[in-house]
Amino acid sequence: MTVRATVNRRIVLAARPRGLPTPANFRLEETDVPTPGEGQVLLRTLYLSLDPYMRNLMDEVGPGYAPSIEVGAPIVGGTVSRVVVSRNEQYRAGDLVLGSAGWQDYAVSDGKELTPLGDLERPSLALSGLGMPAFTAYVGLLDIGQPQPGETVVVAAATGAVGSVVGQIAKLQGARVVGIAGGPEKCRHAVQELGFDACIDRRSPHWAEQLAAACPGGIDVYFENVGGEVFEAVLPLLNLGARVPVCGFIAHYNDESLPEGPNRLPTLLAAVLQKRIRMQGFIILDHYARRFDAFRRDMGGWIAAGRIKVREDVIDGLENAPAAFIGLLQGHNFGKLIVRVARE
Ligand SMILES: NC(=O)c1ccc[n+]([C@@H]2O[C@H](COP(=O)([O-])OP(=O)(O)OC[C@H]3O[C@@H](n4cnc5c(N)ncnc54)[C@H](OP(=O)(O)O)[C@@H]3O)[C@@H](O)[C@H]2O)c1
Repeated sequence: MTVRATVNRRIVLAARPRGLPTPANFRLEETDVPTPGEGQVLLRTLYLSLDPYMRNLMDEVGPGYAPSIEVGAPIVGGTVSRVVVSRNEQYRAGDLVLGSAGWQDYAVSDGKELTPLGDLERPSLALSGLGMPAFTAYVGLLDIGQPQPGETVVVAAATGAVGSVVGQIAKLQGARVVGIAGGPEKCRHAVQELGFDACIDRRSPHWAEQLAAACPGGIDVYFENVGGEVFEAVLPLLNLGARVPVCGFIAHYNDESLPEGPNRLPTLLAAVLQKRIRMQGFIILDHYARRFDAFRRDMGGWIAAGRIKVREDVIDGLENAPAAFIGLLQGHNFGKLIVRVARE
């Protein structure tokens, strides 16, 4: 006889962070496992995705595309879960689903926002190579960046969830790809495993000069993941007609005020105007209805054929999520950061 757990561990926002979050911003709580009502399912979290946007949702004034997390509420997050109890005719106990159960062991759902995963052999892929970050890379690069054969594409956070896929898809399009990553081991991985043409270690003292040397013909597509000094080094290298999909700017997510120093807005505007640069921001939530099926088909094929490699950085235990998340904001993750909440 299997005895069902009665305790639900969850991690809530204990206090809003100022700058880089600390462990004191999180609190592990125990509550009762919720009981599913009519039309609902009870979900057991297997894998939890940790993503940079969570930092933005911890601020009182959020980024607009999703509500801020209330103090005392569980941290939000994408999850792969097993249906434990179903009172919804669309799901059966044992089904594997993608959802947003957040940082907790159990959750109830009315099923509307769940995606059945069938018998996906590597379930965590639904959060990594077949999930939101890879879809972000696909849409941002192909629809906005539009790299042409022989063009130079630059992407930072190059071994991370989004950047690693950006670089590999750009290679499949025939582009030359230069990555920027934190540390020699990540850079070796980008070149030797992911097939990038070059990778610059942003922690080395002369990385900006190295970047310029690695892009002798300038940069045609800069996939913006980080902002900060990386964007400053990239801007003078952008070619006439360059495209800049603005995906994120993680270097600033912990900023409490604007940076000091001269106002560089005129320099940016002059470059955008004179070089006819096209910069376009995008939020991936807007693109699921129109593009997800094509992504799923293409990526599924590329991963199965070994043409795109997916590296996951898997941390065991829900209780370790806060430290892993703080590490993500400092570049400690190496691949898509995922918490294994339960082993089956
Ligand atoms: N627009 C959208 O809808 C959307 C969707 C998903 C993600 N995003 C954005 O995409 C970007 C990448 O996300 P991800 O999930 O793929 O994360 P990730 O790359 O797996 O992890 C974050 C990485 O960012 C780099 N980083 C951290 N602080 C940095 C700093 N101060 N300067 C330069 N690099 C820094 C680190 O890599 P290194 O140490 O190797 O440099 C770190 O490993 C983020 O900006 C995220 O917000 C946007």
